[in-house]
Amino acid sequence: MYAHVAWCYDAVAQAYSLGAIGRAKRWHVAHVRPGDRVLYIGAGTGREVAPACDAGAEAVCVEPCNAMARRLRRRLSPWPDRCRVIEQPLRAADGAGTFDWVCGHFFFNVFADDAMPGVLTMAASHVRPGGRLITADFAPGSGKATSRLLRAAYYRPVNLAGWGLGMCALHPIYDYAPPLEALGFAVESRTGFTVAPHTPALYEVVCARKEQGG
Ligand SMILES: C[S@@+](CC[C@H](N)C(=O)[O-])C[C@H]1O[C@@H](n2cnc3c(N)ncnc32)[C@H](O)[C@@H]1O
Repeated sequence: MYAHVAWCYDAVAQAYSLGAIGRAKRWHVAHVRPGDRVLYIGAGTGREVAPACDAGAEAVCVEPCNAMARRLRRRLSPWPDRCRVIEQPLRAADGAGTFDWVCGHFFFNVFADDAMPGVLTMAASHVRPGGRLITADFAPGSGKATSRLLRAAYYRPVNLAGWGLGMCALHPIYDYAPPLEALGFAVESRTGFTVAPHTPALYEVVCARKEQGG
């Protein structure tokens, strides 16, 4: 289904979030060093991959949707030696345990709650010991009741629309920190992104480091 929305996906995401989605997805770019190997899972059109490559990252992008992958390749064409696009679903074998960073932005929320932990586990297996898994996504409900209500009111219609279009499963907002800790990761930071001033963060970037023995 992503094939039908690839042409407008980025513009809709930017408009719906007033730019917050783009800011959340780019968060990691400031932390990537030249030569770092970064795996982008469900990379989409790769808006945040281009600045990471510009900063010296070596990117491997997994994106099974042809229409998304075509845009991704075009965007990454200035760095032919440092980018690879795998036009298939994520597999356990795609460079397991070798990546400095694994980014799954707005990717794990595609899956139903009985499937998501398995996908997260597979993604985590690609991180090298001491490397990091990062995910930008909707911020899970916490804090005051009014904040929780606002987050749910903001998220539910888009989850329903995405489900109706066959783009994701119906589920509540996921909190990735507990399953990542159970997988041997230490959550280093949770960074919120607001859509408007004086409102709670509606998006969050979770950055988790794989323990050396993990
Ligand atoms: C919600 S979009 C997010 C795209 C991009 N990360 C972004 O934030 O703009 C989810 C993406 O995951 C891709 N996808 C779906 N199932 C996948 C799988 N099993 N392995 C890898 N990518 C997958 C879809 O084609 C789609 O581009």
